[in-house]
Amino acid sequence: MRILLTHIHELLQVRETIINKVSGAEMADLPLLNNAYLLIENDLIADFGPMSEMPELSFDQKINCKGRVVLPTWCDSHTHIVYAGSREQEFVDRINGLSYEEIANRGGGILNSAKNLNATSEDEIYEQSRKRLEEVISQGTGAVEIKSGYGLSVEGELKMLRVIKKLKENYSLPIKATFLGAHAFPTEFKENHQGYIDVIINEMLPKIAAESLADYIDAFLETGYFSVEETQQIMEAGKKYGLRAKIHVNQFTAINGIKACVDYDALSVDHLEVVTDEDIKVLKNANTMPVALPSCSFFISIPYTPARKMMDAGLPLALATDFNPGTTPSGNMNLVVATACIKMKMTPEEAINAATINGAYAMGVSQTHGSITIGKKANLIITKPISSFYQIPYAFGSNLIEDVLIDGEIVRRF
Ligand code: NIG
Ligand code: FE
Repeated sequence: MRILLTHIHELLQVRETIINKVSGAEMADLPLLNNAYLLIENDLIADFGPMSEMPELSFDQKINCKGRVVLPTWCDSHTHIVYAGSREQEFVDRINGLSYEEIANRGGGILNSAKNLNATSEDEIYEQSRKRLEEVISQGTGAVEIKSGYGLSVEGELKMLRVIKKLKENYSLPIKATFLGAHAFPTEFKENHQGYIDVIINEMLPKIAAESLADYIDAFLETGYFSVEETQQIMEAGKKYGLRAKIHVNQFTAINGIKACVDYDALSVDHLEVVTDEDIKVLKNANTMPVALPSCSFFISIPYTPARKMMDAGLPLALATDFNPGTTPSGNMNLVVATACIKMKMTPEEAINAATINGAYAMGVSQTHGSITIGKKANLIITKPISSFYQIPYAFGSNLIEDVLIDGEIVRRF
């Protein structure tokens, strides 16, 4: 099957050769072609270039993209899409003055979702999660990472990871599974942290590895959750099973967690609403991708990741949604890109680099996704007719997407 896209108004993120990520000042450059064509052969990008140089090409289907922008689908490297129920009561409680911390201390928050998850069947959780996944695909996401972490029991964590496995089997976009048993301490282990860490290491991990249910390992490294030393134990145990770390860190407090993650060569460090100069120094020349989650900052009214400061220091940055029932009940990457521009002062070029190629890096798929490069997967967004790609963050409440292609197939035609 050959699909030819012609007269593309702006073809974004064109890279002649495969790159893994862009850092610092490079992020300001988003290479594009005006009035371009792009040829898809089966699931891959086979050719692209300016219309003036288009050779004679055979095709099965032709799409005239006049006035439309074409770009790689979003790579959302941090989500908790698999969960049961919702937490809108906590949302209202926060409006009425309670903080995220106060709600968690009353047994709300992560423990509230864990109670729900453990009381819900695997089939029902799959059904709820499938709908969320289909929604984010229709919003332009073409690669997604999904975490466990609302089970907090051997059975609950396995149940979540099996749901993710089933999503991987039934959907063609790349899905990476991250084991987040270390998301919070269950009530019965409140005074016995080591007891729960032992359950994670000695009971959960061997079973997860035996069923090959996880690609990465995560922990919530935060005051009141997992300490640096406790997270080191989790990362060490994951390493033994070949699971690289992607860690929730520096959301509310900076306690030298980033250094510990970099020492373990974590693939990513995520949240970073609070970042010290020392943290920035540690991230320089590391292989670890910093990931910002601006919809979380927006939803629970906490500071935004200091993107400008980090990029000006030469660091790369990725953007992701954090889609979860507590701090970010939205998986819309278009809104993330807009919020990054509006609130974090990232330029549209920087934000789109962060949401495509750098997002791909933060979930280990940048060899195959995240840019318009011959041989990469044809996972593409085709917008409605718009004056320029700046419209994507500018018209922040509008749905500008007309088509989404995954592996060269149109999965959503509006
Ligand atoms: O990434 N910070 C830790 N975990 C999630 C929120 C979990 C929840 O409130 O359900 C996050 O924001
Ligand atoms: Fe998260």
